[in-house]
Amino acid sequence: MMLRGISLGRARRVSEYLKNIAPGVFFQELYNRPGAIGAICPSSRYLARQMARQVPVSDDGLIIELGGGTGVITRALLDHGVAPDRLKVVEFSSPFVQRLRQRFPHIDVIHGNAADLSLLLPPGMKIRAIVSSLPLCSLPEPITRAILQQWQLLLQDGGVAIQFTYNLRLPKWRAHLKARQTESKVVWANLPPANITTFSFTQAKLTHPSHECP
Ligand SMILES: C[S@@+](CC[C@H](N)C(=O)[O-])C[C@H]1O[C@@H](n2cnc3c(N)ncnc32)[C@H](O)[C@@H]1O
Repeated sequence: MMLRGISLGRARRVSEYLKNIAPGVFFQELYNRPGAIGAICPSSRYLARQMARQVPVSDDGLIIELGGGTGVITRALLDHGVAPDRLKVVEFSSPFVQRLRQRFPHIDVIHGNAADLSLLLPPGMKIRAIVSSLPLCSLPEPITRAILQQWQLLLQDGGVAIQFTYNLRLPKWRAHLKARQTESKVVWANLPPANITTFSFTQAKLTHPSHECP
């Protein structure tokens, strides 16, 4: 009887998880735009939780999530204590934007390209953190460079950028980022394992040139 209770509870959690991450939408988008998705499955809850933990919640300023996808990291940011009115999610894919707006009706989900970030945000707002799931290794290099320039521009007054990558060594895009690495952590409970890095843009200096992306 107790065993049945446990498995029913687990089945309900699995079904809730699948409903939220909408694997159909994810795999359809992966099939249509593999380079822009850059992942073989949605981020795990463990990865999402570790990303969210890097975000300072007590300060003021906006928290910007880039590449919201299925919303796993959006959920973790809210659970971490980020107030919904401080959070803006930028996503390029229409099907993901639609899902995110359904799942998080109280959050501003912006349909746009992270390479144009400063044009998508209200002018003059302080940005405290950028939390990015963007596949910087598989996007075209000019887009990746434009995205990193936006971080540089928007975070120069003391914000942080948090990015994960499946490249557990130094990914190529790091050579274009003028920022100080303040944290680095590997999350093994993700498919594939991922490295989360946090960057600070005050007193920035160029990071070292790097290895190629896989
Ligand atoms: C690794 S996937 C999604 C990760 C998300 N954490 C998840 O688990 O569902 C990367 C996301 O970045 C989005 N994306 C790619 N290029 C983008 C761009 N230039 N601007 C905004 N979003 C972009 C993709 O549409 C996709 O949703």
